[in-house]
Amino acid sequence: MNYTRTILTSLALTSSVIASAQQLTLHIDQAQKDVSPTLYGMMTEEINYSYEGGLYGQLLRNATFREDKHGRRPNPWTPWKSGGAKYWTATDTTRSVLTLTQKGGYSRALPACLNWKAQAGASLANDGYWGIAVRPGEHYKGYLIARATQGGPLTVSLQSTDGKTTYASTQVSGLSAQWQKVSFEMDIPATGKTTVSPTKDVRFVLTAPEGGNYDFSKVVLFPRTFNDRPNGLRPDLMKMMTKMSPKFLRFPGGNYVEGNDFHNRFDWKRTVGSPDERPGHWSPWGYWSTDGLGLPEFLNWAEDCGAEPILAVFAGYVLKGDYLPAEYCGPFIQDALDEIEYCIGSADTKWGAQRVRDGHPEPYPLHYVEIGNEDFFDESESYAGRYKAFYEAIKARYPQLQLIATAGQKQIEQWARETGVTGLKFDVIDEHYYRNTKGMYQSVNLYDSYDRKGPKIFCGEWASREGKPTTNMNAALGDAAWMTGMERNADLLIGHCYAPLFVNVNPGGMQWESDLIGYDALKAYGSPSYYAQCMFASNVGNKIVPVEAKDIPQMDYQGSSLPQLYFSATTSTTDGQTYLKIVNGGTTPQTITIHTIGGKPAKKGLLTVLHANKPDETNSINEPTHIVPQSSKVKTGSNFKLTVKPYSVNVIKM
Ligand code: AHR
Repeated sequence: MNYTRTILTSLALTSSVIASAQQLTLHIDQAQKDVSPTLYGMMTEEINYSYEGGLYGQLLRNATFREDKHGRRPNPWTPWKSGGAKYWTATDTTRSVLTLTQKGGYSRALPACLNWKAQAGASLANDGYWGIAVRPGEHYKGYLIARATQGGPLTVSLQSTDGKTTYASTQVSGLSAQWQKVSFEMDIPATGKTTVSPTKDVRFVLTAPEGGNYDFSKVVLFPRTFNDRPNGLRPDLMKMMTKMSPKFLRFPGGNYVEGNDFHNRFDWKRTVGSPDERPGHWSPWGYWSTDGLGLPEFLNWAEDCGAEPILAVFAGYVLKGDYLPAEYCGPFIQDALDEIEYCIGSADTKWGAQRVRDGHPEPYPLHYVEIGNEDFFDESESYAGRYKAFYEAIKARYPQLQLIATAGQKQIEQWARETGVTGLKFDVIDEHYYRNTKGMYQSVNLYDSYDRKGPKIFCGEWASREGKPTTNMNAALGDAAWMTGMERNADLLIGHCYAPLFVNVNPGGMQWESDLIGYDALKAYGSPSYYAQCMFASNVGNKIVPVEAKDIPQMDYQGSSLPQLYFSATTSTTDGQTYLKIVNGGTTPQTITIHTIGGKPAKKGLLTVLHANKPDETNSINEPTHIVPQSSKVKTGSNFKLTVKPYSVNVIKM
């Protein structure tokens, strides 16, 4: 059967073919629908050691001593019995006695006190998050919040894990019986005999040459940070994200905005101001967050990547299923209004002034606010009322903002009928899709039939989940196919973002399999999915180009007959560039005849290809660039042929 000519804005590819007859016709002359300017973005939360042990520059683990040596959950009501602090060890236990208490510390925000009775020469070590990066030319800044009722100066050093090599060291003196913050700096020489090869087999060591009696509430260590921001972020990961050309950053979750219980929700007011005044909280993904990466750092992160924030506000529902009905949500609604004021309020507002004190006089460019996260899981049906209460209060104060609901419109309306809520309005709906590659291939036409008169769509979490800790080439093919569907519907979608963004690949670092970017203390790498993101997001125009397809081949895929090729095109009315994306998920190369109608076709274009010989090939911390995009010039024009390799993602800029 031959495929009949079909405009792909409502495409369902169902033909078998004559293998070499496939054609794509790009109707640049009919490119009318706008591509959302925020189509490609990023989503983040504290999961997989994304910040602690990841993006957040601070290198020491359990820096505020809130985890005892058993790593028990340190809620205020939890009794503390343990003698030591997790991740802090005496290098010679005969010369040290360690006692951890959760009171008597520096402040209400830093209540913990690790007492160290040290004999002369005793040392205390912290291995960081699976090591600490040492590189030629690195510069470290750190501080202790400590006191000493007895004893002299301390030596701070970075040593090999066997203690045989000292890479850097300095002295910290001036400790007294009063709590105080004492700073230090260390360098690794950039060149010469005393420099080192990059390594992460390093520990941080405090040594008491004369012995003494010391108390610590916080000990931190930072290397250089991106843009040299104080309390800043890891440069290599920031550079990788910049290459994704993100137009927004959705934060702080994800489950992280909700928390397991009310006490551990993302309580943004406890994440602003000095990092030393932030008490931290327990992440729903099973570890302590110091909240050193808090609201100001999220906002600066977005700004430093050229992205705008998409802010998710806590909406009265926590992961274990507890919630407050709308009529009791007043304090949380006020928190949300205050949070927005922090982002965009002028300096003469209470929270705008806090933002100025935190170092950012200008408002951030906030256009979207999300009410909760995945409230489609809310079996209490309370979301209809909660959503309405948040929506109305935020719109009344900030009518310019677009608000995002986190359950489907029909579901919320059903709950509204059941709970007597009326007068709901919808701007944008957040949808999440975690599927395997086959599921993504089968979903590429999902948005083609969505009602253009209804709310806009935000695909706030999605991924083809194949491969761990980071996804493989097959997942990248599913991702890219799915993205062609979203690009074709870029008038409906305000944006979309892959999740999760990060994973620390060390054993114990991953809570969620299938992630975009992997790292350890020293190195980072992108999955094939990461490269597919970069290719798509950095090659997009501002108008959707209808593509007419003919004779697209079918492939036999895991027992189903599915199209082998997936594609989308956009064009830019500002610089005349057209971008065609073609995904070949099959085992055979395909030669496609490409026609362009309209525009002024150039004779040459740039083809960028991501390809693997086998679909389960991948990148890893030890083989970070096995699969990376390759670019070359190709012949284009108003009528040209292109052969796409098997298992390949292709972007043609012409
Ligand atoms: O991305 C991982 C989790 O998946 C998010 O925290 C949650 O929103 C979703 O269920």
